[in-house]
Amino acid sequence: MDPVVARNRAVWEEASQKHVREYQDLLDQARARSSLAPCELEVLRPLLASSPVVVHLQSGHGVDDLDLVAAGARCSIGVDFSEVAAAAAQRRAAEMAVRCRYVVGQLPAAPLRDHCADLVYTGKGALIWMPDLDAWAATVTRLLRPSGHLFLYEAHPMVPLWTWDEDETRIRHDRSYFARSHQNDTYPARGATEWQWTLGQVITAVIGAGLQIRRVTEHPEPFWQPHGVTAAAWQGQLPNTYSLLAQRP
Ligand SMILES: C[S@@+](CC[C@H](N)C(=O)[O-])C[C@H]1O[C@@H](n2cnc3c(N)ncnc32)[C@H](O)[C@@H]1O
Repeated sequence: MDPVVARNRAVWEEASQKHVREYQDLLDQARARSSLAPCELEVLRPLLASSPVVVHLQSGHGVDDLDLVAAGARCSIGVDFSEVAAAAAQRRAAEMAVRCRYVVGQLPAAPLRDHCADLVYTGKGALIWMPDLDAWAATVTRLLRPSGHLFLYEAHPMVPLWTWDEDETRIRHDRSYFARSHQNDTYPARGATEWQWTLGQVITAVIGAGLQIRRVTEHPEPFWQPHGVTAAAWQGQLPNTYSLLAQRP
């Protein structure tokens, strides 16, 4: 295994203990409210209306899977290389009697059969862990049945450059939009290597894998705000996330 990926995997196994420690909180949260953002639901609702089989790449704590099923998915199959994350997600889905299944697998080699997904759902801190975006996009295409969709809701590639200052946003001078990677210096994956992909690189990889892009939207809201932090960068002036919908011909 690539040593950087091996290190990232070790960091994620450790970081995913959070899903075990906070198991009950996440369960309560999942019961109380949807974790899907309004901008996600706007695009996903029409797709979920046809009861798709969803494959969720890098499913993490899996709370989104519970909401995808609640919103209409026939089932959701999560893939994550963290055994801890997959086990915690499986336990929660079983406890809530929701049709979710979790498999441990290291992307881009998803241990699932070709064309098994009507919808591939991913994001919220997923692509930064993929060292080879073309290989990732090829896996998405392989998993999708013809006419199936990819929905990606991801941190905007400008995000690594925003500071978390409260008074005004500043640009981090130790980062570049065009850098290949940087070290994660925040919770929960501190110490891991994040790859950076520009919006152009993501779009080009998706097109290169044979998918047709239906829409790309940039959003001001971050998908995640650490507790107690109120950064000026999140007040609506700057892009913090984007969503992408693509379809396999
Ligand atoms: C920030 S989390 C996002 C997960 C999910 N979207 C969520 O909201 O919980 C990133 C996840 O990617 C997983 N991951 C990172 N690299 C991976 C790889 N090469 N193959 C499979 N999973 C990976 C980690 O274990 C982690 O659960």
